[in-house]
Amino acid sequence: MSIFYVPETKQFYLHTKHTSYVMELYDNHLAHSYWGSRINKLPNLEYYYPFRFGASFSATDIPERLFNSTDKLRQEYPTYGTGDMRNPALQVENASGDSITRLRYESHRIFNGKPALSGLPATYGEDCETLEITLTDALTGVTAVLYYTVFPEKDVLTRSVRVENRGNKPCTLENVASFCLDLHQDGFEVIHLHGAWAKERHIQRIPQSAATMVFDSKRGASSHNENPFIALVHPETTEDYGDAYGFCLMYSGSFSAEVSAEQYGSTRVKMGIQPLGFSWELKPGESFQSPEAILVYSDCGLGEMSRRFHKIIRENVCRGKFRDAERPILINNWEATYFNFNQEKILALAERAKAIGVDLMVLDDGWFGKRDQDNCSLGDWVVDRRKLPDGLEALCKKVNEMGMQFGLWFEPEMVSPDSNLYRNHPDWCIHTENRPRTLGRRQLILDLTRPEVCDYIIDAVCTVLNSCPISYVKWDMNRNMTEIPRKGFAHQYILGLYRILEEITSRFPDVLFESCSGGGGRFDAGMLYYMPQTWTSDDTDAVERLYIQEGTGLVYPISTMGAHISAVPNHQVGRTTPVTFRSKVAMMGRFGLELDLDKLSEETLDTLAKEIAQYKIYQQDIHHGDLYRLLSPYKGRTAAYEIISDKRVLVFIMNITGAPCQVPLRLKLRGLEPDKQYKDTSTGIIYEGRTLMGAGIPLDTRSDYRDFLTVFEICS
Ligand code: DGJ
Repeated sequence: MSIFYVPETKQFYLHTKHTSYVMELYDNHLAHSYWGSRINKLPNLEYYYPFRFGASFSATDIPERLFNSTDKLRQEYPTYGTGDMRNPALQVENASGDSITRLRYESHRIFNGKPALSGLPATYGEDCETLEITLTDALTGVTAVLYYTVFPEKDVLTRSVRVENRGNKPCTLENVASFCLDLHQDGFEVIHLHGAWAKERHIQRIPQSAATMVFDSKRGASSHNENPFIALVHPETTEDYGDAYGFCLMYSGSFSAEVSAEQYGSTRVKMGIQPLGFSWELKPGESFQSPEAILVYSDCGLGEMSRRFHKIIRENVCRGKFRDAERPILINNWEATYFNFNQEKILALAERAKAIGVDLMVLDDGWFGKRDQDNCSLGDWVVDRRKLPDGLEALCKKVNEMGMQFGLWFEPEMVSPDSNLYRNHPDWCIHTENRPRTLGRRQLILDLTRPEVCDYIIDAVCTVLNSCPISYVKWDMNRNMTEIPRKGFAHQYILGLYRILEEITSRFPDVLFESCSGGGGRFDAGMLYYMPQTWTSDDTDAVERLYIQEGTGLVYPISTMGAHISAVPNHQVGRTTPVTFRSKVAMMGRFGLELDLDKLSEETLDTLAKEIAQYKIYQQDIHHGDLYRLLSPYKGRTAAYEIISDKRVLVFIMNITGAPCQVPLRLKLRGLEPDKQYKDTSTGIIYEGRTLMGAGIPLDTRSDYRDFLTVFEICS
């Protein structure tokens, strides 16, 4: 049993191997008591607060208790209107026009496993236990059913809420946080993943302010700009030491994460659907399900926090055959040709790629309609016979005959004004009557709140996938929402998208799906539930990628990050780096190629072939292993990562800029077993784990853009 209730103390204990989360029923309020390293027993809340405290401006709504106000109580799902003046988790407009909700404990139940969330992605698995707590407002019947699931061996907790209207009048939900947590201190530092197109998920670590800090997206997508992930750490927390509280929302739409310091020294953290533009009417008997959030606590620093996120996302978020199976190494023609290709060019690229060990040829944008630029044809998923005169089927067949698989790009959620789809259904795009339709990348977004539009997309994509043996799909999405016609629409859109993704991915279980949104504009755990990898960024420069991939890897595993070797000078930043350096950076993700092989020298092709062969040996270790960040590009001129699998230890070193006159530094490995023996595969020398962790391995930092991969076999 990982979850239990102690009736004498009215406490709920949720244990994982190394952590505990404790709540208490305090006068039928659901109060937060503790989240941290594993403990067996906790005194009741009043032990920690043996006297009345705080100014009298906190309204007294629990007069007989020490915590005489909900304004002081650490709460699990606070509401507005009866004393707690902080930001509520749930905000409801009642039929009478007021915004008061007063939730009190009604019941709970504990069971094995966890329920699926209707219409939404969620963690899944047998290795978990769930606590369901029902809180209700006796006057309005507004009820919050809170779900807490623990994955004990993985040290992970998930939370979500279903709001039900058990009253006899309609009400409107204005804000529904997926979780709220009142941590019993402030003075944290907040880590968030900030960015822009081609610059996604750069790590920012900033001191907690005395006010409310908001990290959000209002774009209709989780966005390039802010990721639905935050972590709270202490100023002294490092990679290996100290407390780290991580929060990841499993949602692909607009979201909000708030961190508020409050007057009595605690910190309220909450995350959920973006409240701006959100509103959801609940008639009597109806309910609303929030997205799920994944919560990870580590007392061993950020490194352990990340490894816990990686494991749960790899094993309990990603689904299907490619969760565990080896994935093909692909070449994508986008940066090789952009829109300017024909059948001969694609076949030539495939042939060269095959010769150096690539498994799959991906045809990117431009294969359909009359799409010679980004100004037309989205929505018309019919092959362009000017470029591919024999059609997709023949192209796919020819690629297959070379011994390669074939993959295809789609952008199914979009429509170009210059397309047959738009001419036939001008009302199928997101729009507001009488307002101009704002274009983004010269296109509009289809209205996925309309079932007939979703059905059209499912049918159009499935027709192409049924027409020939397509082994891989890149699902792109290249603009954000404008002219949103009504409140609640952006969430309905995401529900429509999830329905489409569920339908298509389950009809084609053998196809590897990769999501993309102008690179990493929708890199989130929601998308990873349907598609096990995401194109990390349109910035393919190896140095830029070190920052992007390290930020992304704070929460998402290597196995989910599409990373390709591209041309030099790099198309985004003009930098020239050696091919082996680019290759090692791509190996720290889902390795692939995206360059014109016809333009490379035989020597470079030879090097590429060797890199690919090397990656094929280690890809399962990289995919399933535990990541240790040894040196961060955010802190110095060298990035170094260690991956420990059951068989091997891989150490990747990428030196960005060189420094003269350096006595070689030593890079200390981590996470090894001190008594175990590790054999350096290049020298055959065997070392004890304690030697590699204590004395380290030499670190050559003399020159720019140098890469090293050292591999140790774990001796049995
Ligand atoms: C944006 C993607 O991120 C690129 O990789 C490429 O697929 C283009 N779209 C194609 O339009």
